[in-house]
Amino acid sequence: MVAHRGASEEAPEHTLAAYEKAIEDGADALECDVRLTADGQLVCVHDRRVDRTSNGRGAVSALELADLAALDFGSWKNAEEAPDREAPHSVLTLERLLELVADAGRRVELAVETKHPTRWAGQVEERLLLLLKRFGLDAPESAGESQVRIMSFSARSLHRVHAASPTLPTVYLMQFVSPRLRDGRLPAGVRIAGPSLRIVRSHPAYVERLKGAGHQVHVWTVNEPRDVDLCAGLGVDAIITNRPRAVLDRLGR
Ligand code: G3P
Ligand code: CA
Repeated sequence: MVAHRGASEEAPEHTLAAYEKAIEDGADALECDVRLTADGQLVCVHDRRVDRTSNGRGAVSALELADLAALDFGSWKNAEEAPDREAPHSVLTLERLLELVADAGRRVELAVETKHPTRWAGQVEERLLLLLKRFGLDAPESAGESQVRIMSFSARSLHRVHAASPTLPTVYLMQFVSPRLRDGRLPAGVRIAGPSLRIVRSHPAYVERLKGAGHQVHVWTVNEPRDVDLCAGLGVDAIITNRPRAVLDRLGR
């Protein structure tokens, strides 16, 4: 089970608190989205702009890390739930998240999604691999052993990762199934399929096709008990959820 943006139903998404809670809840893996700041730092932010999830405004790519560090990435969610909270939630760098994973005291996997990879023409992947290298995570002995996987809706982004580090597993995210992939094939080099829950609900047989073609299947974003049951019944390999504890309970773990 993969905690989507951390335990993001309970804590503000992509904050240290959300990932600490996910680890405490027993998540097998953590999902995060990464973007490059104007000064080339990888930060965990979903949207192109910071407006929805912080008290600031502007595009991540136009702000420096110091600008982002001055913002509160928790107040948007906590205004009603914790009005007395004093400490702001800082922007989370991917480096800090990797430190958290390294210090977790148990194996916790990381599923990193490259966002907006075309704008930066390879820089996101390049910086990502350099950072993973510092943590000894960029070149696992085999894909099956890897603690990290790279996800993207962009086949080009995954191709760049695969070309630079062939044993690092990649996940091709799909919002819909393009006609050329209907037979269960994925772009070259990709090991894992990441179909949306909508695809799985409307075309459950597609999961079988993907698995028949030798791929793992990781489904996002699965929050309701009936959908957890659907995925478990289909034998999907990973459920990506905003509610890690509830999903583990449903799976009897
Ligand atoms: O885990 C995949 C999922 O996160 C993709 O969609 O928009 O939540 O990044 P999004
Ligand atoms: Ca994501």
